[in-house]
Order: sequence, then C-alpha cells, then structure tokens
Amino acid sequence: MNIKIPNAGIVLLIGPSNSGKSTFLLKMVDERSILKSEIASSDEYRQMVGDTDFIHWQQHSPDESEVLFQQYHQLSSEAFQLMDAAIEARCRLNKTTFVDATHLRDEDRKKYILIAQKFHVPITAVILDISEETLLTRDSERDQPRGKKRIKQQFQLFKKEKRTIKKEGFNKIYYLNEEALDHAFIERGK
Ligand code: CTP
Repeated sequence: MNIKIPNAGIVLLIGPSNSGKSTFLLKMVDERSILKSEIASSDEYRQMVGDTDFIHWQQHSPDESEVLFQQYHQLSSEAFQLMDAAIEARCRLNKTTFVDATHLRDEDRKKYILIAQKFHVPITAVILDISEETLLTRDSERDQPRGKKRIKQQFQLFKKEKRTIKKEGFNKIYYLNEEALDHAFIERGK
C-alpha cells in the first residue's frame, strides 16, 4: 500500500507498543522516503529529558512501583511538552512531522488534530493493526519489554478506539495490518 503524505502537516502513527511504528519509520528513512529529522519520537524525547525512554515500575514492590510510576509520568509529561512545541514549530514552518507514539487515547489524538487546525495543515493517521499475539511475542523478545499486562491493556484500548478514529477529523486515514505494513511505502507531496 502506498501512503500518500502531503508536503506539510502532521502524520500520526497509531498503534500499541511493538506494533512496529519506529521500525516502519526508520525503514522509510533508509529508503529515503522521509528524513530522520521529520520523526518526532516520544521515546527519544523521554531520553532527551530523562536519560531513559522507559522505567520498569512493574518489576518492583508496590511502594517502589508507585514512586517509579510517578517519576515516569513526570518524565513523560516533560517529554511531550518539548515534543509538541517542536511539532508546532515545524507546522509553523510548513514542515511535515511523523509522530511516533502510541496515540491510543482519544485526547492524545485530539491534541494533534487541534494543532493541525491551528496551523491550517493537513493531518494523516497511519493505524498499525497488529495481532495481540505478535505484539506479545515481540515484547518478550525485546531488550526492554513493556510487560505482558501493559501490552494486553494497550491492545484492548486499541481495539475499542480504532472504530471511532474515522470520526475524529483526520484528513486521511490508512489502516495497515501486518502484511500491508510489510509492503507499505510512503509517497511524498500527494
Ligand atoms: N519488531 C519486529 N518486527 C516488526 C516490527 C518490529 O520484530 N515488523 C520488533 C522490533 O525489532 C522491536 C519491537 O518489535 O524489538 C518493537 O518495535 P518498534 O518498531 O519499536 O515498535 P513501536 O510500535 O515503535 O513500539 P514502542 O511504542 O514500544 O516504541
């Protein structure tokens, strides 16, 4: 499937952890369809502000876990503020930005729809619809697993939300399953 992306605006990747958002975008960078500098990745902004993109709060005692969760929440909040400011600046300059985060909650998506409206630029959704089984297998094989419970929660939320995304105000939506994603290609200036 060819994903047609206009010359300016926001492209929201939507999918649970392990759906392959970063892998797909980096493949597109390798194939020279997009620039690395066009990607805004929440993991990278977490690293930028907090030296880590993930804190394993689940693997600690309940008390320790609560403290770590609060730390992660604060770190994430700082990371997103910085990332969103960069996305706004890029919209002002009529640049295209591919946003690499899960965007599973409607308020997370709404935020970018409002930014796109504010700057009069188009917003495209690219939905990665990958089976729960694949998400869990990939998680167990990665260096920093997100954890079974978290992946299952994300998958349930994704299943619920994916039906309503088409009514939210995106200019164009692409739905990609595992096979389609393997053959997907980003076309520019469409
Ligand atoms: N992966 C895979 N096959 C794919 C895509 C991803 O095996 N077709 C693996 C990657 O090698 C990585 C893990 O799945 O170990 C997560 O891939 P990533 O692209 O980072 O997924 P994201 O959706 O970006 O996950 P997150 O939101 O957690 O960053």
